[in-house]
Amino acid sequence: MALQSVFPTLVYSAPLMRRGLTAFNRQIAREIEQLMLDDRAGQHWSRDNYPGGYTSYGSASRMQDRSPTFAALERRLQRHVDRFAKELGFDTGARPLVMTDCWANVMPTGVVHSLHLHPLSTISGTYYVRTPRGCPGLKLEDPRLDRMMAAPPRHDAAGRRHSPWVTMPVRAGDIVLFESWLRHEVPPNRSSQERVSVSFNFNWF
Ligand code: NI
Repeated sequence: MALQSVFPTLVYSAPLMRRGLTAFNRQIAREIEQLMLDDRAGQHWSRDNYPGGYTSYGSASRMQDRSPTFAALERRLQRHVDRFAKELGFDTGARPLVMTDCWANVMPTGVVHSLHLHPLSTISGTYYVRTPRGCPGLKLEDPRLDRMMAAPPRHDAAGRRHSPWVTMPVRAGDIVLFESWLRHEVPPNRSSQERVSVSFNFNWF
């Protein structure tokens, strides 16, 4: 074979669990609705940092310690994170990958979360709670983009594996995991309904 592919960027996507998803999702959605009403600090933080939407990132960023439902999410995520880490070939020695942060996000119509990465983390990801029809997926950026000085643009026909941006479709009940250095964004919500998700970081030190 003349061509080989090196330095792959792996992204993991799967349903959180096989059974009980509807009930679990209903419960976590209810808790996020309540949190959004009660969390005054988060409302203020979101007003400044997450215009038009609500996130508990600045106020309640360890939801796994505050709610048994989020603690159950943490337990269920662990299996997926460990599987992903194995595929990535990680050797973390005796140190397990553990959840460090976990927060809720509510994006009404028009709300955007611009390009960012998750510093001081190893694996990041999102669990999707509500994904109304027409809401945006998760847009990922080629991590080599800032080095492509004289690289020509690609033909559309070159396909997804040569595209500088790839949008992962998102579906309620699914998780998406990626390495925390991978820049990503949520484009504007063009749906008339709220897009609701829970994001998290895992770290090994
Ligand atoms: Ni993010």
